[in-house]
Amino acid sequence: MDIKAIVLAAGKGTRMKSATPKVLHEILGKPLLGYVLDNVEPLVSETFVVVGHQAELVERYADARPKTKAVYQYPQLGTGDAVSKVIPYLEDYDGLVLVLCGDTPLITAETLKKFILIHTENHTDLTVMSAILDDPTGYGRMVLEGNTLKGIVEEKDATPKQKAIKEVNAGVYLFNWQKFKDAFANLTSNNAQGEFYLTDIVQQAKTAVIYTLENNDEIFGINSRGQLAQAAAMLNNRKLARLMDEGVTIVDPKTTWISEDTSIDEDTIVYPSTYITGRNTIGKNCKIGPFAHLRGNVQIADNVKIGNFVEVKNSKIDKNTNVSHLSYIGDSDVGSGVNVGAGTITANYNALTKEKSKTTVGSNVKIGSNSVLVAPVEIKDGANIGAGSVITKDIPERALAFTRAALKIVENWAK
Ligand code: UD1
Ligand code: MG
Repeated sequence: MDIKAIVLAAGKGTRMKSATPKVLHEILGKPLLGYVLDNVEPLVSETFVVVGHQAELVERYADARPKTKAVYQYPQLGTGDAVSKVIPYLEDYDGLVLVLCGDTPLITAETLKKFILIHTENHTDLTVMSAILDDPTGYGRMVLEGNTLKGIVEEKDATPKQKAIKEVNAGVYLFNWQKFKDAFANLTSNNAQGEFYLTDIVQQAKTAVIYTLENNDEIFGINSRGQLAQAAAMLNNRKLARLMDEGVTIVDPKTTWISEDTSIDEDTIVYPSTYITGRNTIGKNCKIGPFAHLRGNVQIADNVKIGNFVEVKNSKIDKNTNVSHLSYIGDSDVGSGVNVGAGTITANYNALTKEKSKTTVGSNVKIGSNSVLVAPVEIKDGANIGAGSVITKDIPERALAFTRAALKIVENWAK
């Protein structure tokens, strides 16, 4: 059966105290909403992101993704009201709808797949994800009669007895759209918060199934900068553990940051205080760091060394190449067997025109220390650059190029 998703992202995020919408705050170069969408999009035919607070920015991010579309909710009258904004787009849609929040980046694709499977295997109207928490404060409580879900009661509406329930609503739902579409249009707001609660549809369900999370981290939601830092640490630890399982040495997991979308092959060693954001691939037998900074769209082949205080961005580096110390490689294509001497800089940015330009370095090029390659520029195969040079023209194959002022020695100067 066809599945479409609705991601709720219209809320204000007051506690972030930010000019940036909450769901666009980033962890290792990717917005919170990006984590959710990356996991959801492969499982569904189309995704609607409900936007409201600072809507244009979130809309731009959502609409840039091929299978995702932003839908406005203004004013924000609650989670049920948010879902109702999608009704005009799905009048005749006869499939399933998965609803989840845009501010829970730890939810995994594996869990969502299992959740969908449980729903279809049980032939139920509605499946709700739950978690069992030692401290359920703040969450909606799952109210059961025997094994049957009877309703979800928000903290603010709960009786003392209901507040003692430790099973909470994780905020992820899957249901047959046509069976609930009208219920969303007819919700009421007779509750402590005066909101239209999505959770009220539970009472309309003839059959409802609960899927209980195995790992409660997955519903960790972000409402503050403190929680943003906590979520970043959780995502990073998850990534480092996976990389180590896959044969990568992480010398010091406490000081190493690697983004979810970075792949690293076997026997590569990542040294302490390395920070890798965005989408990157690193081959096998590489040495990265200590103190290396990869900023995204970096492709590194096998047996490459990226040493201390080296920053790389939007570049390809071919096999057996060393960039060992104190260098910046940006918007560059570097061949194999290259030695980039200490302190080499690709000058890729023209601060007057704000243009970025490309540097191409052929294979087996040797670049002397403290050189500047002023882009656009190409150093062809086998060329040598003398230390301390500023290279502003293309250098032919196997040539030697240097711009160094002649060395003067004044004898007996000290006398
Ligand atoms: C909601 C659930 C609660 C559950 C909790 C899990 C309801 C009524 N309650 O509560 O049972 O335990 O999530 O985190 O659904 N949003 C909109 N438009 C709105 C209101 C909210 O898009 O008008 C979005 C928010 O941006 C957020 C999500 O919906 O991403 C959840 O909203 P929030 O206000 O955090 O709901 P809770 O009160 O936490
Ligand atoms: Mg919330």
